[in-house]
Amino acid sequence: MNFTLFNSQDAAPDPSKALAMFPQLTSFYHDLGNTPLMPVPGPAGGARILAKCEFENPFGSVKDRVAFGMFCDAVNRHDFSRGQLKLLDASGGNMGRALAMLGRLCDIPVHLVIPDSSPDSLINALYEARADVTLVDRRHFLMGLIARAQEIALRDPSWMLLSQHLNLVNVAVHQHQTGQEIRRQLHGDKAGGWVAAVGTGGTLSGVYAALAPDNPVLKVQGTTPREMPFGTMSPPNGRDKFAGAGGMGFGFRQPFITRMTADEVPFYHVGWEESLSAMFEFYQLTGVRIGASSAANWKSAYHLARSCGQDEPVVTLFADAGSDSDREKGKNFFKRTAPVHA
Ligand SMILES: Cc1ncc(COP(=O)(O)O)c(C=O)c1O
Repeated sequence: MNFTLFNSQDAAPDPSKALAMFPQLTSFYHDLGNTPLMPVPGPAGGARILAKCEFENPFGSVKDRVAFGMFCDAVNRHDFSRGQLKLLDASGGNMGRALAMLGRLCDIPVHLVIPDSSPDSLINALYEARADVTLVDRRHFLMGLIARAQEIALRDPSWMLLSQHLNLVNVAVHQHQTGQEIRRQLHGDKAGGWVAAVGTGGTLSGVYAALAPDNPVLKVQGTTPREMPFGTMSPPNGRDKFAGAGGMGFGFRQPFITRMTADEVPFYHVGWEESLSAMFEFYQLTGVRIGASSAANWKSAYHLARSCGQDEPVVTLFADAGSDSDREKGKNFFKRTAPVHA
């Protein structure tokens, strides 16, 4: 497998060419980003917690930003005189949905490699958007998805492999867009902490790069599933875990994270049942629907906020809104799980 980072950027990709070629993207582009930074329940006596509400993006998740960034970059790099642009990537779910929707809007073929444990709602949405779908045994997890996508691209180079785990457009979008939005929304305050779940690590590393110059002692904390934590030496497994994040297995580490800071990034572990319980609890407390990785981030940020000063907020990110069926499962888990907000 090739784990080389590529496509280094000093700004998010220029969308002009994509918008000129595909004017049907205009309304999506208009609605993308500038999501609210919402105050959420935090610990008494600790720092305030603010969450970036990425479920407000047009296709419902933080990955709309990265999908659009990689899409624009692909349009900028592709030589259309030599044939059609065809996009391929490995995805745990949200990236797949966003790319498939962009492909459908612009009539560009999209091929997604996703785990066979993906919910029917996602698989149906991908087929409805006319994407090609390759399912990989869930037990192989991230490494299995990346390996299969690379194999498809090697066999048929007419597919442009976007490689969200290695493509620095992913980091640039968060550094120059998501992170800068957060800075503006802090109105001159500086963040004391930054917390995000790590799938590719694009969100954690990109926003960190945007926030750290304002606060050289910014505390950063990754959130990772207890069943398959970041950096684990164990092989991948098919256990239930909160979606969108996780370790690669065999000691491999997401390349964006290994290059982020001189010191090791600390991680907070959240189990599947705890994350679904927190999804339910958050909905009960606020009436806002957040997904399992968002709920895990809430719990992780809550933990960090206890050890931070009251004057500097801990910022986190809610990647998607999750499903009502997971919230319903969370209701049962809540009965036997310690609440986040006591
Ligand atoms: C629900 C959810 N949470 C968190 C993440 C992690 O984001 P990143 O890939 O930037 O680490 C993802 C990524 O797909 C996601 O779908």
